[in-house]
Amino acid sequence: MYIPEEIIKILLTEEQIRQRVAGLGAQITAEYKGTGRPLLLVGILRGGIVFLSDLMRRIEIDTLKVDFMAVSSYGCTASSSGEPRILKDLDESAEGCDVIVVEDIADTGVTLACLKKMLSARNPASLKVCCLLDKPSRREAELNADYIGFTIPDEFVVGYGLDYAQKYRHLPYIGVISL
Ligand code: IMP
Ligand code: MG
Repeated sequence: MYIPEEIIKILLTEEQIRQRVAGLGAQITAEYKGTGRPLLLVGILRGGIVFLSDLMRRIEIDTLKVDFMAVSSYGCTASSSGEPRILKDLDESAEGCDVIVVEDIADTGVTLACLKKMLSARNPASLKVCCLLDKPSRREAELNADYIGFTIPDEFVVGYGLDYAQKYRHLPYIGVISL
């Protein structure tokens, strides 16, 4: 198995992730089936892409749509114009959609709290957050994710979309890195 030297421990195996993502997909399917509204998954670039691509294939809803957003790592810090720093916005309107934000991890919670605020201003029919990992011990912003894959301890993790200085997003498992 390919394990780069900097990875000191595997926290979640491919199989553990696969099973949990299937469970989340089944739960979302059960909760959103038959609404008659579009279900819009908003993947957060770049860390959320691997999770999104697996999760979407586990959701059995005809109206499912996918779009992407990217925000600066400064979260909601206002720019000089007072606008949040959206690096890439949705390509289509979220109005009237059941929106689920799909992100890799809730750490301080600042990024997801900021995204929720921005998206709630777009008149979605509903708005929820789904993150693969949750590090509740580090929370600063008020944020409760509606769907959580795994609650993890305060360790720096990489793989399955998550990076360390843009490295290791391609690992199929989630590993702990020595910082
Ligand atoms: P926040 O602190 O909840 O706003 O998280 C901001 C971003 O920090 C997340 O979207 C991740 O990209 C990144 N991040 C937080 N913890 C980790 C980690 O353990 N590994 C890799 N990225 C992380
Ligand atoms: Mg990220």
